Amino acid sequence: MTTAPDFIHYARPPREPGQPTLLLLHGTGGNERSLLPLAEALAPGAGILAPRGKVLEHGMPRFFRRLREGVFDLPDLHARTHELAAFVESAMASQGAADLIAVGYSNGANIGASLLLHHPTLLQGAILFRPMVPFEPEELPNLAGRGVLITAGEFDQMVPSGQAQRLAALLESAGATVSAHLLPADHGLSDADISLARQWLAAG
Ligand code: MLT
Repeated sequence: MTTAPDFIHYARPPREPGQPTLLLLHGTGGNERSLLPLAEALAPGAGILAPRGKVLEHGMPRFFRRLREGVFDLPDLHARTHELAAFVESAMASQGAADLIAVGYSNGANIGASLLLHHPTLLQGAILFRPMVPFEPEELPNLAGRGVLITAGEFDQMVPSGQAQRLAALLESAGATVSAHLLPADHGLSDADISLARQWLAAG
């Protein structure tokens, strides 16, 4: 028998029947509690699964290693994506939960995009705040029926311009229904991000 990988995490079932579970994926330096206020603002009745990234960069948790800002350690990204997917599958099965929507910010958005590309049936959809293209897949997965919301900041100093548009095009060419927005914001989340995400979830 193989044991599913474990992550330090926070979990709670949906408060209202029929609500999805949000897979909260924090940014660099965050943890399993960082996005709880955001989840409360987006969908207070939703379930939550919030793992803490296992990689430490100068003591700051992340979901995968990078060689420098914006340059990812791809073997590590692939391995950690599979490890996270195995944890999520096992946690969802033990919670008896079904619909899972990733909500990722920055580094969390990047591993969220990697989960979509590597494990296209794991997530029902994803909200990716300030993402980049995590890697260029050799073969496109089938993301038909999956919805993705992407928000980018026009004044973002960390994410090179064009990355969010390239990711949107990649996910669309894999069959996902993508709604992408360029906001007058920097790398931090703005009220517009939150209201777009709230509307997108409610319409879902
Ligand atoms: C990453 O490393 O995933 C991106 O550069 C975003 C971040 O700074 O965490």
